Amino acid sequence: MSAVTIRRQRVEWVVAADRSHLHELAANVILDVLRNTERPVFGFATGGTPLGLYEQLVRRSLENPRLLTRWQDVTGFNLDEYVGLSPEHPQSYHHYMWRYVYRYLPVRPDRMFIPKGIGNLEDNCRSYDESLMKYGWPDVQILGIGKNGHIGFNEPARRLAMNTHVTRLSESTRLANARFFPSARDVPEQAITMGMAGILRAKQIVLLAFGEAKRDALIRAFSGWLGTDVPASLLQLHPHVTVFTDQDIFGDLS
Ligand code: F6R
Repeated sequence: MSAVTIRRQRVEWVVAADRSHLHELAANVILDVLRNTERPVFGFATGGTPLGLYEQLVRRSLENPRLLTRWQDVTGFNLDEYVGLSPEHPQSYHHYMWRYVYRYLPVRPDRMFIPKGIGNLEDNCRSYDESLMKYGWPDVQILGIGKNGHIGFNEPARRLAMNTHVTRLSESTRLANARFFPSARDVPEQAITMGMAGILRAKQIVLLAFGEAKRDALIRAFSGWLGTDVPASLLQLHPHVTVFTDQDIFGDLS
């Protein structure tokens, strides 16, 4: 079980064949911040990719009582939520976070922010950005990446939004996420997502990308070019990004 760490431009790449090893190494980053920051703020992603990381965070916290109590001081911000799904809906990201992470940890429910996909969406977006400003931008932002290069649900577009906003999900994203729903038709057409500023203001970014399906998105995101057609390419501007991946793409980067 070995991982190779490579620094290319300002991005650190941790490459290993074994995904559970990558989850363990990514968990080390989060747990270091948890140990060493007075009031840590974490940015959480959902989807299939970070599940192993969350499993590690929960298990290692439960094994260590001092680490476990640190979660009382954590503020969490999730990247996104589907429009139209109530927090109780089994496919909502509220439900995901409580099912896989929060129910095991002594977190303060009033400090675990997840955009609300029902009610007055404009108000929800505004109050989300206000909370981000009040509690501070994440010390670490966990990210996955869409096959089309989206981060959060900032989809490829002519212009990208800075702040939390309502977005229309692309067909490729709805198809990719159909696996979590009874059918592709049940995937909501819209979502609320943190904007690019929320993501780029995080002190540190941990991006997880596994499998052939994400290879092309990674190559396009870290090609040395910036474009709103590949929202993840803006991560190249950030001073502290670590990519954990099982794909060796260096031969394909120009
Ligand atoms: C989820 C999110 C998305 C996912 C991306 C990859 O909160 O913001 O950007 O990270 O769609 O999803 P998975 O991990 O399911 O391949």
